[in-house]
Amino acid sequence: MKLVVNGTAHEIDVETDMPLLWVLRDELGLTGTKYGCGVAACGACTVHIDGVAVRSCQTPVGDVDGPVTTIEGLGNPAALHAVQAAWDEHQVAQCGYCQSGQIMQAADLLANTPNPTDSDIDDAMSGNLCRCGTYPRIRAAVKTAAAKLQEA
Ligand code: FES
Ligand code: FES
Repeated sequence: MKLVVNGTAHEIDVETDMPLLWVLRDELGLTGTKYGCGVAACGACTVHIDGVAVRSCQTPVGDVDGPVTTIEGLGNPAALHAVQAAWDEHQVAQCGYCQSGQIMQAADLLANTPNPTDSDIDDAMSGNLCRCGTYPRIRAAVKTAAAKLQEA
């Protein structure tokens, strides 16, 4: 089957019920997206399909009906996405394991809610768990990214 990831079309030969997460990590070598729980309960595996945040551990690849964006394709070192730049500025990551999922979820939030309140942020990010407790920095970074996107 054909799968477009980060703007590149790939031909992949896998079962249609294989989780998108396995395809990304094991078939395409895109290991920035993490496996946490495998049951859509932690958010570590969050990617975008057609710009919408989804849990790739619970998305059969055969159900993917649009282009996929992973953390590797959200921005690039020369032109970070505003969320990535804000994460850098606030030094959000601790161990880092949950952070690609956090960033992808935050990017989805800001695409739909350009000026989120604390409550909007908490609602949107509540399914993305962080064992290191970086939540206060996540909230601050989301606000910084929102302000930067509004200036742009
Ligand atoms: S690994 Fe997908 S939500 Fe936890
Ligand atoms: S930074 Fe360690 S789990 Fe979130």
